[in-house]
Amino acid sequence: MGVYEVKSLEQYFKVYKRSVREPRKFWSKIAEDFVWYKKWDQILEYRLEEAEVKWFVNAKLNITKNCIDRHLAKRGDKTAIIFEPNNPEEPAQHITYNDLYERVCKMANVLREQGIEKGDRVCIYLPMIPELAVAVLACARIGAIHSVVFAGFSSKALSTRIQDSECKMVITSDGGYRGNKTIDLKGIVDEALEDCPSIQSVLVAKRTNTEISMKEGRDQWLQPLLDNVSNVSVAEVMDAEDPLFILYTSGSTGRPKGMLHTTGGYMVYTAYTFKNVFQYEEKDVYWCTADIGWITGHSYILYGPLANGATTVMFEGVPSYPDYGRFWEVVDKHKVTQFYTAPTAIRALAKQSTDWVTKYDLSSLKVLGSVGEPINEEAWHWYNDHVGNKKCPIVDTWWQTETGGIMLSPIAFSTPTKPTYATLPLPGVQPVLMDDKRNEIEGNQVVGSLCIKFPWPAMARTIWGDHRRYKETYFSAFPGKYFTGDGALRDEVGYYRITGRVDDVVIVSGHNLGTAPIEDAINEHPAVAESAIVGFPHEIKGNALYGFIILKETGEARNRENLTREINQYISEHIGPIAKLEKLQFVSGLPKTRSGKIMRRILRKIASKDTSNLGDTSTLLNPEVVSEIIENAV
Ligand code: WTA
Repeated sequence: MGVYEVKSLEQYFKVYKRSVREPRKFWSKIAEDFVWYKKWDQILEYRLEEAEVKWFVNAKLNITKNCIDRHLAKRGDKTAIIFEPNNPEEPAQHITYNDLYERVCKMANVLREQGIEKGDRVCIYLPMIPELAVAVLACARIGAIHSVVFAGFSSKALSTRIQDSECKMVITSDGGYRGNKTIDLKGIVDEALEDCPSIQSVLVAKRTNTEISMKEGRDQWLQPLLDNVSNVSVAEVMDAEDPLFILYTSGSTGRPKGMLHTTGGYMVYTAYTFKNVFQYEEKDVYWCTADIGWITGHSYILYGPLANGATTVMFEGVPSYPDYGRFWEVVDKHKVTQFYTAPTAIRALAKQSTDWVTKYDLSSLKVLGSVGEPINEEAWHWYNDHVGNKKCPIVDTWWQTETGGIMLSPIAFSTPTKPTYATLPLPGVQPVLMDDKRNEIEGNQVVGSLCIKFPWPAMARTIWGDHRRYKETYFSAFPGKYFTGDGALRDEVGYYRITGRVDDVVIVSGHNLGTAPIEDAINEHPAVAESAIVGFPHEIKGNALYGFIILKETGEARNRENLTREINQYISEHIGPIAKLEKLQFVSGLPKTRSGKIMRRILRKIASKDTSNLGDTSTLLNPEVVSEIIENAV
């Protein structure tokens, strides 16, 4: 990877140009630095119109050989993972590369012993404890496809995801800690598994020592199994295009999309981008506060850092527990050098007194990162002034579950930063802005739909079980190009700024929420006739959800407060508490086009209290309903 490391802006432009002129040569040079059982016959084959892409064709490898084994000779005693527990009184754990090797091998042997084979899907529903990292890597070692489901999701959301990819096994724990709460994970799994016939076994790690029920013949405690297997395990030989994992993301229609990532390209890309964007050096301690249940955790807590032999922090807790100094206490304690978090966390912490920050020594910090949603100017400055002490570049990294790795971002110490701008494409990334007529918009100071016009190694290959949906969602709006679903502007020097989603996905506290599945959940309530959900700007969460709900006659007679509570309960059960409505308005009708489509544009404006210019409402079937909704808006 060394050849294309970027150390100055001048070098960035040189490397970038080369990556566009000769992408195959560029990526093959970078890929030389990894361990392969067999190298590729071809670097790249693709037909974007068909959503077909292959990188490192016919190459063979195992990603865990690259993330663990190859470091043992030089870095066996180096800390791979620092586990920082939820409770600050509980000691942190330093897991060395030697330890990690042993733990992953054992886990891999347990999985094999339980009948898991290459290509089988394993669902991982664990809190942020070391077993999560170990389980993920163990799957990769034996070629099983991991499907990590964020442990904040409800049992219904979990079972939909297990069913969709027909997982054979679930790995979970008795419970999980999050701030002052204990979450009954095993209970949620039990409920989810009531209709998941593909599941043959459940392995349970011990974390909270809560009492749980174990189903005979299906459930087993993990530890005794680990105690009885060997600590070496041969890594499966994987094709570069063999699936590595499935990770679900929300779509603008009902069913979640199981984004499938493959092995070779994903490894090369996450490793290269990690090293460059964060300018990671051998002695650094890197901390990404995401959960491994999201793509950020997959790519930039585990695979990218470990492929670089880095020390990566895994934090079990939340930024507000036991107090608002927790993040800064952890930075101080472990002498964190790169810190990567989400704007929603920054905004929440910026609301508190700066005494929480100044109380700790943050002088170890070199680079700050932001991910998941646009960072507003105020939050950017607070981060820069109070956390970075104006000395740490902020890398505002734009990317997606689908892209596998960071796409647009400053490179620390090379790219001059600009608040709220993700700045420039990383080497190998070819962004374009498109207008409504599907033409590429040339030049600067322009706005359009953000697309990528050339393949990059970490892009998702398909949606599990539904290639047609993959093609339709991402490659049809602008044929031959990958459509991101985001709008963006390009300023006078060519810097990009993401303006937000152009579809029906709302990003709440950095979590992608499709409005359709939330509406489906609400509509299941017996008193609800119809509903429409839109996002509106929120001071801390970035966006929050506003629900417009039409009641059935039976519902009309009921107490509104109770209904509100019940509807939110439905949402919690179907999706998870993160999808609860911030505001809810009962309405007598929804603005609809003559073809019966809800005009969300109008609802979005009402929810944002921006009703001065609602645009053309004359094509509505029921224009009179608009003034009623505005009058009663909350
Ligand atoms: C948004 C998270 C502005 C964007 C890695 C994207 C951002 C969606 C940024 C993907 C950023 C992510 N600035 N917006 N730096 N990073 N987004 O799949 O709308 O959870 O499409 O991946 O988050 O969210 P996802």
